Amino acid sequence: MAIRLGDIAPDFEAQTTEGTIRFHEWLGNSWGILFSHPKDFTPVCTTELGEVARLKAEFARRNTKVLALSVDSVDDHRRWSGDIEETQGCRPDYPLIADPERKISQLYDMIHPNASDTLTVRAVYIIGPDKKIKLTLTYPASTGRNFAEILRVLDSLQLTASHSVATPVNWKDGDDVIVVPSLSDEQARQKFPKGFRTVKPYLRITPQPNK
Ligand code: BEZ
Repeated sequence: MAIRLGDIAPDFEAQTTEGTIRFHEWLGNSWGILFSHPKDFTPVCTTELGEVARLKAEFARRNTKVLALSVDSVDDHRRWSGDIEETQGCRPDYPLIADPERKISQLYDMIHPNASDTLTVRAVYIIGPDKKIKLTLTYPASTGRNFAEILRVLDSLQLTASHSVATPVNWKDGDDVIVVPSLSDEQARQKFPKGFRTVKPYLRITPQPNK
């Protein structure tokens, strides 16, 4: 069954390049990003996994753990990691899940049979510290993901989880934000001491509150 926003992320036990992991226990109180890629030793995936390794400090700064999945074996993942280091200048230093029996792929609906009945699509799940699904993305095999966008979404999710704001189109950390429509003007004045600008009664802009 499809996994939807607000669902509890299904728990699982997996063999990975960093040993056996129980997903929820491994996440602890962190945010998590589980992403699948179609196959080891393929070009687009090689660039993606190198980029995620390069961004490890950015994820850590956001209290976020990352783990990747494909239907290949741990041995293949380890051999391929050498190629990723050689060609992308960064070795994956986060767990790569081996899912040859496609148990986790099926649990997370990562195999879309009309695209490929054997390989996983490029799925992304962002999971909050409450273990709930906060974001899902699905890309085809032919299109590499933009991990700067995934960091941007993470910034928005973390900000909006703790402040009564939403983030507008193309927002990035530090830009002005939107006061949620459920707050009255009076409540907004109390919550946002820097003030807000009313463009329309339903569109009120305020400086990012945690900056
Ligand atoms: C790739 O990562 O380049 C790729 C993987 C599976 C199918 C097509 C491309």
